[in-house]
Amino acid sequence: MDKSLLKEGFEKNFGTRGDIQYFFSPGRVNLIGEHIDYNGGLVFPCALSIGIYAAVGYREDKKVRLVSKNMVNKVEFTLNDIQFKEEDGWGNYPKGVIKYIQEEGYNLKGADIYLESTLPDGAGLSSSAALEVLTGYIMLYPILGDKIDRVWLSLICQRAENEFIGVNCGIMDQFSVAMGKRDHAILLDCNTLEYEYVPVDLKGYTLVIMNTNKKRELSESKYNERRYECEMALKHINDYKKIENLCYATLEDLGLLKDNLLKTRARHVITENQRVKEAIKFLKGGNIKEFGKLLVKSHESLKNDYEVTGLHLDTIVEAALKFEGCIGARMTGAGFGGCGIAIVENKLLEEFIKEVEVKYKEITNISPSFYISRIDDGVKMLF
Ligand code: GLA
Repeated sequence: MDKSLLKEGFEKNFGTRGDIQYFFSPGRVNLIGEHIDYNGGLVFPCALSIGIYAAVGYREDKKVRLVSKNMVNKVEFTLNDIQFKEEDGWGNYPKGVIKYIQEEGYNLKGADIYLESTLPDGAGLSSSAALEVLTGYIMLYPILGDKIDRVWLSLICQRAENEFIGVNCGIMDQFSVAMGKRDHAILLDCNTLEYEYVPVDLKGYTLVIMNTNKKRELSESKYNERRYECEMALKHINDYKKIENLCYATLEDLGLLKDNLLKTRARHVITENQRVKEAIKFLKGGNIKEFGKLLVKSHESLKNDYEVTGLHLDTIVEAALKFEGCIGARMTGAGFGGCGIAIVENKLLEEFIKEVEVKYKEITNISPSFYISRIDDGVKMLF
């Protein structure tokens, strides 16, 4: 993104000033380990080079004004009176984060913030986590600079999403946006928050993000339903055997569950957590084909056992896998629409995109979008 465009956007909305500062916060994809974070297991996400840019002018008073090139409504509030307001829409995410940062005892300055996003909104690439982490980073920058504790920030942002917005998400999205590292994915243990950066060298292959352009309908209620089912499965297993979270159960433990639905949900969780471990081994060993095969297994499990895919994600993943140069594909994120990822031979990218587009449109009547994004750093100051 061109600095002059951000400056122009800022000045159009807030007037000219000589001390504008620029920031960037990425979106994320999860390579494998889906619906695992809230079950205390291993996830393997990475931050992207597409995300949200901000031009910021700090203020001497307590006012915060937010404008986004991608959104219609403007948001304005004062730091000592932060409340959730339906009509503020997207503006509630920054408000929640700022509220909880202040509750930690930080005395923040007001700010004028102009935003421009290269992330498709609501497509499951964590545009909300990107906005949350970006806001937190911007507001704390005058106090902490880059010394900010990023893990702490991701927990504050998760709290904002859980308690202020009311979405019961796990830690994966906020953590990846805050902690991302160029050309690396993050192997994160969601129970302990221990993590390891693993280099992602796909050899002659490229990570392609495939947007079904199907809005994620019912995703919130279905997401909460799955969380509840996992809690129930854990509770029933705990009647016989004490384990801290569902990812610590084994396939044999499934025999302890009488309810078939809970059994299939738990089977996804247990096998997916195992797949993450195998995937890391293959990636570290440079065996990209085997890594790709695990992505396919992950999708099958999310489709059949966890039931969070749906026609659009299944169609785009099937179309991708029919293409000879594609060695793995799966949905990414919460599911129920949104995006998939595919690993495709470098020299066949154009043909891949053309073919998947035609096949997907034939069945769904929707044109998909494709992004080729570098794996990149977490939130940062720019220029
Ligand atoms: C959403 C949530 C994450 C995670 C994924 C599924 O992105 O925000 O916490 O649960 O779904 O893996």
